[in-house]
Amino acid sequence: MKKCQAVILAAGSGTRMKSALPKVAHEILGKAMVNYVVDEVKKAGAKEVVVVVGYGREIVEGKIAGRGVTYALQEKQLGTGDAVRAAIRDIKKSDRDVLVLCGDAPLVRADTLKKLVRLHRREKAAVTVLTGLLEDPSGYGRVIREPSGAIARIVEEKDASAEERSINEINSGSYVFSRKFLLENIESLVPENVQKEYLLTDLVYRAFFAGEKVSGYLVPDSDEIVGINSREELAFAAGVVTLRVAESLMRGGVTIEDPYNSYVGPDVKVGADTVIEPGVVIRGATRIGKNVRLGTGVYIEGSDIREAAEILPYSVVIQAVVGKGARVGPFAHLRPESVLMEGARIGNFVEVKKSRIGKGSKANHLAYVGDSTVGAQVNIGAGTITCNYDGIAKHETVIGDGVFVGSDTQLVAPVKIGRGAVIGAGATVTDDVPPFALALSRAKQQNIANWVIRKKPELIKKAGLEIPKREKKKRG
Ligand code: UD1
Ligand code: CA
Repeated sequence: MKKCQAVILAAGSGTRMKSALPKVAHEILGKAMVNYVVDEVKKAGAKEVVVVVGYGREIVEGKIAGRGVTYALQEKQLGTGDAVRAAIRDIKKSDRDVLVLCGDAPLVRADTLKKLVRLHRREKAAVTVLTGLLEDPSGYGRVIREPSGAIARIVEEKDASAEERSINEINSGSYVFSRKFLLENIESLVPENVQKEYLLTDLVYRAFFAGEKVSGYLVPDSDEIVGINSREELAFAAGVVTLRVAESLMRGGVTIEDPYNSYVGPDVKVGADTVIEPGVVIRGATRIGKNVRLGTGVYIEGSDIREAAEILPYSVVIQAVVGKGARVGPFAHLRPESVLMEGARIGNFVEVKKSRIGKGSKANHLAYVGDSTVGAQVNIGAGTITCNYDGIAKHETVIGDGVFVGSDTQLVAPVKIGRGAVIGAGATVTDDVPPFALALSRAKQQNIANWVIRKKPELIKKAGLEIPKREKKKRG
C-alpha cells in the first residue's frame, strides 16, 4: 500500500438524502461518512490521500480537518470520471498507483483495500475493480463479465438492459488504476450515456477494449461495498458499524449486555472486563479503561474514563476525565474540561463544568460546580452552587483540601476557601475563607411562639389538626 495514492470522491451533493448537508458529511455513530473512508485508507497504509470536494466543500473539509489529506476541487459535479479528473494535478505529481474510492461507501475495510492493491500488482492490471454480490443490486453499476470470466465493462443501472440488470455482481466504486493507464485515458472520457455524465466506469471498458488487463476482487462480505445514497442506507450502515464495533470489543473481553441496543463509535477504545449495559451511547475518540461499569442510558463523548470507574444510569459525560474508581451519577452531567481525580463521587443531578475535583471528593446531590478547583477529600453539600458568572465574565472558585461545604451554599466567584474550612449550611460566601475557619452567613433564627394559631388558624384546620386546648385557654 505504501506505493499508493488514494483519491476519495466526495464532491457530490447526494440528492437522494434530501439534505442541505453534503452527503459524505452525514454521520454514522457520530463520525462523518467520508472519515470512515479516510481512516480506513490510511490504516491500509496509503501515504497520500486526496479528497475531491465540491458541493459544501467547507463543511466537508471541516469534518475531515486534522486527518492529513489534501483537497482537489471539482467545481461542477459532472460525474465520477470528471471528479477523478479534478484531482489530475495531484495524480501527476505522484509516482504511485491510484486507488480511487467513493466517499459514500464507508464500510470498506483496510484489509480489503490491501488485498485489492496486492491483486492489482500481482496481475499487473491496468485497472482492478472491487466488486461484490448483492441480493438486491438495484441502483449500482453491474459488472459484465466475458464467458472466460474476465471483466469487460461496468454498466450503470440507467444504461443497462433488462438482462444486465438481473446481474447481481456490482461495482463497489473502489478501484486501483495503474497511473500510466489512468493518465492516458481520464481526459478523453465522453458523457455519452443516459445521465450525460463523465462516468469513471467507462475506463473499465476502455482497458478491456485496448487489451489491457482488468482484474476484479469480489469481496466476501458484501456489507463492505454498500454505497450510502439515502437515509435508509445511512441507518443500515449505522447498524453494520454498531455490530462490527461490538463484536470487536466483545472479542477483547468487554461485556455488552445488548449489542443491538448500545452504540459505541468506531474510534472508542474499551478495556477488558468493562460492562456496558443496554442503551449506552459512546462517541468520538473516547477511552474507557478496564473494569469500568457503564449504566443504562449513559451518554459519553470524547472522554477518558479510567479503570474501575462507575458511571451510573442516565449520566452525560462530554470531553471529561473520570479518574480511577470514581463514581458518577445516576443523572449527573460532566461538561467539557471536567476532571475527576481518583475515587471522586459526583451524584444525582450534579453538573460539573471545567472543574477539577480532587481525590476522594464528593458532590453527591443537586449541585453546580463550574470553573472550580476542588482539592482532595472535600464534601460539597446538596444544593451548593458556584456562582461563576456575573453576566459578563466567568470567575473561578478554589476550594482547599478537606473543606466541608454545608448544604444550600452559594460560592460567589471569584472566591477561595482555605483548606480544612467549614461552611455552614445556607451560606452566601462572597469573601475568601481562611484555612480551618467556620464561615456563616445566615440571619440568626427566631421562633415566634403560636404565630400560626393566632394568624393562620385556617391552616391548622385545613391540615385536620386540632387547635391545642391549652393554647386556646391561654388566648381566652
Ligand atoms: C457509482 C458508480 C457505480 C457504483 C456505485 C457504488 C459511476 C459512474 N458509478 O454510482 O457503478 O455501483 O458508485 O456505490 O461511477 N462524486 C463526485 N463528483 C461527481 C459525482 C460523484 O465527487 O461529479 C462522488 C460522490 O460524492 C460520491 C461518489 O462520487 O461520493 C459516487 O457518486 P454517486 O453519484 O453516488 O455514484 P453512484 O450513482 O452511486
Ligand atoms: Ca453512490
